[in-house]
Amino acid sequence: MNGTTLSIKTLLAQAVQTLATDSAQLDAEVLLAACLGKPRSHLHAWPERCVGAEQQAQFLAWLQRRTAGEPVAHLTGRREFWSLDLTVTVDTLIPRPETESMVALALEKIPDDRSAHIADLGTGTGAIALAIASERPNAEILATDISARALAVATQNAQRLELRNVQFVAGSWCVPLTDRLFDFILSNPPYIADADPHLQAGDVRHEPRSALAAGPQGLDDLQRLVRCAAGHLAGNGWLIVEHGYDQGDRVRQLFTGSGYRDISDHMDDAGISRVTMGRK
Ligand SMILES: C[S@@+](CC[C@H](N)C(=O)[O-])C[C@H]1O[C@@H](n2cnc3c(N)ncnc32)[C@H](O)[C@@H]1O
Repeated sequence: MNGTTLSIKTLLAQAVQTLATDSAQLDAEVLLAACLGKPRSHLHAWPERCVGAEQQAQFLAWLQRRTAGEPVAHLTGRREFWSLDLTVTVDTLIPRPETESMVALALEKIPDDRSAHIADLGTGTGAIALAIASERPNAEILATDISARALAVATQNAQRLELRNVQFVAGSWCVPLTDRLFDFILSNPPYIADADPHLQAGDVRHEPRSALAAGPQGLDDLQRLVRCAAGHLAGNGWLIVEHGYDQGDRVRQLFTGSGYRDISDHMDDAGISRVTMGRK
């Protein structure tokens, strides 16, 4: 690509060739739409429109960085989750579509006609807490993270989205819950095994390791939080956690060992075992 003014259609076609990955079309569209400050639908509505020199230069710079492996969400600083436009930084996990399955499962249980006390442990960008807050304005939500930097991003997301029913507190797993009891405790904790090669591959290598890795089998944090959450659930309160595709049996055992009942495992939209829940 050179310095001449090109149309949206031409820029996208050239970018897809440059990127040459499975996600090339989507990546190129997300990046170009962000450069233009427009939704992706704009690209399809106005394919012949010329892109200004400054925006084109920005797009080419991002394309180079994407080719070098940086995640699209780190370039744009944004990721959509549950239709919420979230700020994402190098200090936060990039929210995943599979976590939306967990939000959907939790919403089936959380009442919409009365208040509920809810905790989201390890909130990252605030994805789970803010999705629930947007759907359940009467809920009182406490969102925690051990990373003060992640929590700052989550707080900023809540303010920008004007979701006022979420409080943010720093600390490890159940420590920030003090002596409070909750109707629902939700968490998508780190659950990748320390030696898993996926940690060194693709977009994942650009995300904080502390948001991803959890001991030799990836179960260290799940073990801690399944245990401690039992002491912070009100009667009949639910613990709902996300886990790895092959961890369902072990997580179920953790729930049983900590005295939960009505334990069930659920698949995400891709048909992969992903969420376990149980009640006190
Ligand atoms: C897999 S990320 C999930 C982030 C967000 N909930 C999401 O679904 O996009 C796990 C999060 O747990 C946080 N975390 C790691 N260890 C923690 C601990 N001991 N106590 C609380 N949060 C922790 C990380 O900082 C990270 O934000």
